[in-house]
Amino acid sequence: MRRGSIVQLVALGVVIGAAATIVALFVPWLPPNASEERDGIDLVFWFTTAISIGIVALVFAVIGYSVVKFRVRPDDDSDGPPIHGHTGIEILWTAIPAVLVTAISVISGIVLVENDRAASGHLNVDVIARQFAWSFVYPEQGNLTSAKLYLPLGRSAELHLQALDVIHSFWVPEFGQKQDAVPGQDTKIVVTPTKVGTYPVICTELCGLGHALMRTTAIVMKPNAFAAWAKQQKQALHAPPGQAGKAVFASNGCASCHTLQAAGATGKVGPDLDKLPAYAEQAGKPLEDFVRESIVDPNAYVQPGFNPNVMPPFSSLPKDQLDSLVQFLVSSSKAGS
Ligand code: CUA
Repeated sequence: MRRGSIVQLVALGVVIGAAATIVALFVPWLPPNASEERDGIDLVFWFTTAISIGIVALVFAVIGYSVVKFRVRPDDDSDGPPIHGHTGIEILWTAIPAVLVTAISVISGIVLVENDRAASGHLNVDVIARQFAWSFVYPEQGNLTSAKLYLPLGRSAELHLQALDVIHSFWVPEFGQKQDAVPGQDTKIVVTPTKVGTYPVICTELCGLGHALMRTTAIVMKPNAFAAWAKQQKQALHAPPGQAGKAVFASNGCASCHTLQAAGATGKVGPDLDKLPAYAEQAGKPLEDFVRESIVDPNAYVQPGFNPNVMPPFSSLPKDQLDSLVQFLVSSSKAGS
């Protein structure tokens, strides 16, 4: 190969590499960064991106150069030269990817171990995933439950994931890392929020019919606002039965699948709860018994037109919360129908 060709090839590679770098740097392809853990995740993204830019520059330059320089003349009907194996090149194109992939795994491993370490004095939150709703339990705040993830700014939170039915996956893009929730297995993820705001919580594991709807929000608040929220939530759960039932309805994510006017819920995956009295009649059961049974054993009677095994049994609800929820559903569906 002549020296002039190498210079041309390298120049082409530099131009392509520069173009790819501009795209990577100036097209915003990462969500805003709202947690300490995101720094490590971004480092892995950028490390991999840099490697990809290098490879794209090399491959595109060689292809572009070859297409221009070695294309056949219109009158050339001869075969190309027969080329067999080249041990040197084969070793090279095996060794380079092996080194790059190993480097990516080492960096990823270090970041994951670092991110898994919760600072002392961290908050614990139990994240419960079920088809198709998230709920969050705060053991240090009197086991209060919420359908949204509230987190105090600047304090590490260790999220303990549990799946009640199938595999789900917890992801807040602004926090960076994803973590699977696997039935029968305890997985965790640490989040240290760095920005007050509201972020989407997304299920990123195909988990059934309502997978795309299995979303809620994470709300990062100043520490004193978080304490005030926790206090107010605890009061709501011990309010008179009607209001407590509404809080239980909200905190268990019922609204993601059901419609109920009294709760401002418009979910469409499951039956319309404003029609409970009519459904109870079809099932041939007294309304209150029917509602209670449908919460703890949803497959005992499945309303025609809906799929069985979609709603998980809420049999682990504490008795007082179940009672308030039943009362709330009975009274508000009577009013709504
Ligand atoms: Cu849960 Cu997808």
